[in-house]
Amino acid sequence: MTAITPVNPQEVAQSLSQYEASYAAIKQRGLKLDMTRGKPSNEQLDLANELMSALGPSDYKAADGTDTRNYGGLDGLPEMKAIFAELLETSPQSVIVGGASSLTMMHDAVVRALLHGVPDGKGPWAREKIKFLCPAPGYDRHFAICQHHGIEMITVDLDKDGPDMAAVEQLVAGDASIKGMWCVPKYSNPTGETYSASVVERLAAMKTAAPDFRLFWDNAYAVHDLEATTDPLVEILGACAKAGNPNRPIEFASTSKISFAGAGVAVMASSAANVADAKKHLAIQSIGPDKVNQLRHVRFFKDAAGVRAHMQKHAALLRPKFEAVSRIFERELAGTGLAAWTKPRGGYFVSLDTLDGCASEVVKLADEAGVKLTPAGATFPLGKDPRNRNIRVAPSLPPASQVETAMEVVALCVKLASARKLKA
Ligand SMILES: Cc1ncc(COP(=O)(O)O)c(C=O)c1O
Repeated sequence: MTAITPVNPQEVAQSLSQYEASYAAIKQRGLKLDMTRGKPSNEQLDLANELMSALGPSDYKAADGTDTRNYGGLDGLPEMKAIFAELLETSPQSVIVGGASSLTMMHDAVVRALLHGVPDGKGPWAREKIKFLCPAPGYDRHFAICQHHGIEMITVDLDKDGPDMAAVEQLVAGDASIKGMWCVPKYSNPTGETYSASVVERLAAMKTAAPDFRLFWDNAYAVHDLEATTDPLVEILGACAKAGNPNRPIEFASTSKISFAGAGVAVMASSAANVADAKKHLAIQSIGPDKVNQLRHVRFFKDAAGVRAHMQKHAALLRPKFEAVSRIFERELAGTGLAAWTKPRGGYFVSLDTLDGCASEVVKLADEAGVKLTPAGATFPLGKDPRNRNIRVAPSLPPASQVETAMEVVALCVKLASARKLKA
C-alpha cells in the first residue's frame, strides 16, 4: 500500500469541531454492529443446507467400498482427495484430508516439526530457538501459533504482489534458525491481494540457510472469488519441485468458507516425503478422520466443478457487502490522503490503512459509537503494528445495509482521529 499523506492537513485540522459534532450525533444512534471476524453469514451457510440430508440412511459406502462409518482411511476418501487435488491443482497422492479445520492441521504440522523435525532436517526444531517469517499485515491466528509455541516472529512487509522478496531472500539466506514462513498466497487475509508469479517462483527457488525450511502455504481462499474471473496463482508444489526444493511447501485449505465453517473438511498437500512423514505421526494421533462428513461433501458437491459453481452463489451474496465498503470509503475518504484501502477480487477482508499512529484510536472511536472492529494491531505479530495504522475490515457477516452504516461510522472515525492528530 502507498504511503498515506494528508492532501490538505490544515483543512482537516480546521474541520475537527465539525467531525466531533457528527461523531457525537452518531453516538446517539445506539448502533450495535459487529465487523470483527470473517465469518460466513447465515445466508451463506444456508446455501449448503442440503448437506444435512445429503446422505440417506444407507448411503455410507465410498466408491472403493470403504464403510465411512467405521475406523480407518487416515488420509481421506479417494473421491474427497480427488476434489481437493483438482481445486489445488495438484495430485491426489499429494493430499491428506483432515478433520473440520485447516488451522488444526497447520498447528499440528508446526508442533510435529517442533517435537520431531521434518524430512531434510537434523531433528526436532524445538532443540534450538527458531524463527518464522511473518508477512504482515497477516492472519492473527498464524501469529498466535508461533507465539504460543515460543517461535520468534520476524515481520516482513506484505506488498501488492506478495511479501517483500528482497528482504525475505536476505533473511532466509543468512539465518539457519529461520525454519518457516506463513503465506496466505491468494486473496490474502487481510489485504485480499494475490502473490504474483515472480514472487511465488522466488519463494520456491530462494536459497535458505536452513535445509529443512518450510513454507506454510495457507491457501484458505483458493476458490473464493468475488468476480467472474479468478486471480492466477502459480501452483506451489510444482514450483518448488521444479526449483529443486520439493519438500519446502506444506499447503493447507478447507471448505470452512465453502460449506459450513464449523463442520467443513480440511486438507493439507505436500511432497511424497512430507506426506509420508505426516501420516506416520497422524497414525499415532487418530484411527481416521470423519469420513461420513467427507462423503456428504462428495455427494453434495459431486466434483470440483460443483464446488466452483457453489462459490459463485457465495460471491453473489458477498459482492454487495464488499461494494458497500468500497462505495463508502470512496465517497468519504477518496482524495483526502487520510486512508488507503484494498479492493479485493476475492477472500473475506478489506485492509484499511490510516495515518501512522491512528489505527487504535479509530478502532476505539468506532467501538464507542457501537461498531466493533478487529483490534488494531491484530494483523501483526504479537498484536503490535509498528506504525499503528492497519485495520482489518470483515464485511461478510452483517447485511449489506449494516456494512454501509458501519463503514460510514469508520470513515468518520478516520477523519476525526486524523483531525485530532493533525491539530495536536
Ligand atoms: C487465512 C486463513 N486461514 C485459515 C482460516 C481458518 O481455517 P479453518 O476454518 O479451516 O480452520 C482462516 C479463517 O478466517 C483464514 O482467514
